[in-house]
Amino acid sequence: HEEFTKVKNIATIELGRYEIETWYFSPFPPEYNDCTKLYFCEFCLSFMKRKEQLQRHMKKCDLKHPPGDEIYRSGTLSMFEVDGKKNKVYGQNLCYLAKLFLDHKTLYYDVDLFLFYVLCECDDRGCHMVGYFSKEKHSEESYNLACILTLPPYQRKGYGKFLIAFSNVMLLYEIAYELSKKEGKVGTPERPLSDLGLLSYRGYWTRVLLDILKKHKGNISIKELSDMTAIKAEDILSTLQSLELIQYRKGQHVICADPKVLDRHLKAAGRGGLEVDVSKLIWTPYK
Ligand code: COA
Ligand code: NA
Repeated sequence: HEEFTKVKNIATIELGRYEIETWYFSPFPPEYNDCTKLYFCEFCLSFMKRKEQLQRHMKKCDLKHPPGDEIYRSGTLSMFEVDGKKNKVYGQNLCYLAKLFLDHKTLYYDVDLFLFYVLCECDDRGCHMVGYFSKEKHSEESYNLACILTLPPYQRKGYGKFLIAFSNVMLLYEIAYELSKKEGKVGTPERPLSDLGLLSYRGYWTRVLLDILKKHKGNISIKELSDMTAIKAEDILSTLQSLELIQYRKGQHVICADPKVLDRHLKAAGRGGLEVDVSKLIWTPYK
């Protein structure tokens, strides 16, 4: 049925050591209609109406990290792969939480079909979620990323770019595993992108593409760039167009890459963010 009021319901949440102001409406079950603040267990993501409930919960909750497999660890950073089918409640809780910061995303109740990649900062108290991205197990549309979120206390530290880069590394692995079956597989984020999502993606794409253009000698086509990076041709074209590096000559898009102009754009693209150290990845693609 139609929902008439999409007014922000929950104003703040408590999660780990943070109290966080929310951004958008999230469709929590009706029994939470009367509250404006929710208390989340930072490990299993159960949410409660009262602080005392959370305190009681923390005494018996034995999770110290997201459920699922740790597939990456570098220093204090860990990534966990959570299968929405095996961890349905966790997947649903994560969606409720994420929707508080996502404007126009439909919330997928069918978490069975998704994998969640939860990034954590780890210390002796446990692994604290900083953000995540989700991915459809079998996407028809070459979406290598459905939703991406960095929790507000952790934003602007390079985690968004790390998550984007991570999803791209996974895609390159999938291509390596499946090369014989699917040639020319490319990825792209699910649309619509939020303003912050587009900014983060543009920054990532700019950096990857300009690094290649800087090193490359001679002509290179968008198709070749797409094959090298697994970034979809449309995304490459729009990124290079926004940087005014594309000219249209004799019915063809031509990349014009003056080294000085590339350097200027690279500087403007901001920090590179945290690098994904591929040697720290312990993962084989989902089958
Ligand atoms: N104002 C201006 N630019 C911003 C910005 C802001 N508030 N937040 C991010 N950016 C841009 C910057 O160019 C930044 O690079 P810089 O810090 O080197 O200048 C770049 O995006 C990425 O920053 P990064 O620190 O890697 O990203 P993040 O961890 O802050 O996460 C999002 C980015 C999009 C994941 C985060 O803003 C978020 O979770 N937003 C809410 C959910 C959402 O909109 N998801 C995308 C759905 S399509
Ligand atoms: Na998205």
